[in-house]
Amino acid sequence: GALDSTYIRNHIRTVPDWPEPGVQFRDITPLLQNPKTFRVLVDLFVHRYMDKQLDIVAGVDARGFILGAVVAYELNLGFVPIRKKGKLPFLTVQEEYELEYGSATVEIHTDACKPGDRVLLIDDLVATGGTMIAAAKLLTRIGAEVVEAAAIVDLPELGGSKLIRDLNIPLHTVCN
Ligand code: PRP
Ligand code: HPA
Repeated sequence: GALDSTYIRNHIRTVPDWPEPGVQFRDITPLLQNPKTFRVLVDLFVHRYMDKQLDIVAGVDARGFILGAVVAYELNLGFVPIRKKGKLPFLTVQEEYELEYGSATVEIHTDACKPGDRVLLIDDLVATGGTMIAAAKLLTRIGAEVVEAAAIVDLPELGGSKLIRDLNIPLHTVCN
């Protein structure tokens, strides 16, 4: 609820002008570093998803791996990585998406999920939404059902969360 959201927000650090002038970078490392805040964070996600009949958790390279893997473990589920291009060794599908300057590509193994698998998709933050949308498309292309996309932080002024929801991808974020 509101208390959890405030608690989590208070342990995220905003770094001005990083990685370039004008960007207020939301840094989640203090949240992960402190054992109490890390546990509160993980437990929030575990409680939200424990009765959702999920089959697997997918996390997005790189910061989505941290929370995603721990949540998967606590839910007694497996974890699958969605990686930046060129890192996965087996058969993959790819999605390209736009960045502020240029583009990026994410990949998933074609056998990462079974058709019909109910997947929780986790990343740390939604900015323009490009990464989360590309990740959700990969899961859909290999036949999985994205039960929810989830992140710790939403930056609503960048429009990503609206884009995601306009595509009918359910989205949950803890704070903004
Ligand atoms: C950041 C963040 C999200 C994405 C959000 O990752 O961790 O994955 O950007 O931005 P978007 O909503 O505009 O797509 P980044 O690409 O910096 O990679 P990293 O996790 O390897 O640092
Ligand atoms: N913080 C962390 N990751 C990000 C941000 C941010 O402000 N914008 C895009 N990715």
